[in-house]
Amino acid sequence: MSLSFNQSVIEEFRSHAGKVGGPFAGGDLLLLTTTGARTGRPHTTPLGYVADGDRLLVVGSNLGAPSHPAWYRNLLVRPVVDVEVGTEKYEAIAVPAEGARRDALFELIVRVAPGYGDYQAATERVLPVVALERSEAPAGEGPAEVNTLADKILEVHTWLRHQLREVRAEADAHFAASAAHRASGQPGGPPAPGLGLQIRQRCLAFCQALEFHHTGEDGHVFPVMAGYHPHLADVFERLREEHLAIGAVQSELAALLDGVGATVPERFRTELARMSQQLNAHFAYEEEQLLPVLADVPWPPAKGPDTAP
Ligand SMILES: [Fe+2]
Ligand SMILES: [Fe+2]
Repeated sequence: MSLSFNQSVIEEFRSHAGKVGGPFAGGDLLLLTTTGARTGRPHTTPLGYVADGDRLLVVGSNLGAPSHPAWYRNLLVRPVVDVEVGTEKYEAIAVPAEGARRDALFELIVRVAPGYGDYQAATERVLPVVALERSEAPAGEGPAEVNTLADKILEVHTWLRHQLREVRAEADAHFAASAAHRASGQPGGPPAPGLGLQIRQRCLAFCQALEFHHTGEDGHVFPVMAGYHPHLADVFERLREEHLAIGAVQSELAALLDGVGATVPERFRTELARMSQQLNAHFAYEEEQLLPVLADVPWPPAKGPDTAP
């Protein structure tokens, strides 16, 4: 798609509650915004999709061209994306499917939208199938409403705790499947293909969000709050040190991620356990010390550059 054609589709989509005419009339269309792998800039592209329960499936068809589309390369580097569908906009984690699971989802897609079969026939490349999963903590966890900076921080902590639990559950499942396969003596790779990339995407989303959160606290929230509450100087000092220690575990995890494809090394699970222990202790201390103080700070801020979490 040419850039200007893309842009006109995006504009029509946004001004007509997600409906677009011309070649897209009658089809299900969403807007996917990824972050440029190299530029760091947002990149919006209109895509057809097929719903699979709560998840939306998109295909990196690139109209059957030999290379993957830019949005697919972007989401492998930064898995947190924005999805616009109808009049709704939400954050999602992009999880490409692998192996037999990818093939089953692709079959489902082709039954609904046969054109993707033609694109697949036109290229040697296996067209990627990506599930866009709403990125939110389960209902009932975290604050019911966000009106103060305390609510906001609690909301972010809840999301991070949830993501970390998910990554650990997937890593455990993957490890158990690999172990069962080894014990069975069957040749070939372990079953349950797809967990590798799934773990990688979730873990990457978790690490990137955690880094963003701690950078915001160190750079904005803590210095501003320390000005108002000088008696908490020791608390901020301890929290900052904990950020450094957690950052070190995060780097370990990031370094191990590239090896997740075939098997999940025991070391990865050890680091996840370490992360979980340190992060939960950190959040508990931070919430105990700071939430009472931050409950007076309205969120979102009326005007003021200095309080992003
Ligand atoms: Fe925090
Ligand atoms: Fe923190």
